[in-house]
Amino acid sequence: HKIYILNGPNLNLLGKRQPEIYGHATLADVQADCKALAGDLNCEISMHQSNHEGEIIDMIHHARVDGAGIIINPAAYSHTSVAILDALNTFDGPVIEVHISNIHKREAFRHHSYVSARADGVIAGCGVDGYTLALRHLARLLNQ
Ligand code: DQA
Repeated sequence: HKIYILNGPNLNLLGKRQPEIYGHATLADVQADCKALAGDLNCEISMHQSNHEGEIIDMIHHARVDGAGIIINPAAYSHTSVAILDALNTFDGPVIEVHISNIHKREAFRHHSYVSARADGVIAGCGVDGYTLALRHLARLLNQ
């Protein structure tokens, strides 16, 4: 199965950006961890990051192929983007939303995510482990 791992704005700076909140691992580290695990799970991952809302929407459209799953960390767009929610609603496969930090423990404006209305599962506050946890669960869902 093909699994798209999509990351929103400012996550290109993961590891350098507010490490007290997001930790020191980079997106390349996340990709390496997910690649290693994907082999064991018989999945193929395709990981992307964009700072632009429309590009994230285009990536979701690309994922609209049979048998695919999506892991998405929409970052700040989680809290603002009806357009990303609408794009995910055009997608038939399983969707897991990941947040590195526990958004519920932070500022009130981070407590609501539009994407959660579509996500089959949400992982928040597990650091970058959230991505591999999401990958394990998605692989299980896709193999059912
Ligand atoms: C985030 C949480 C968001 O509130 C924030 O805007 C991000 C990252 C997380 O992974 O914890 O950029 O999605």
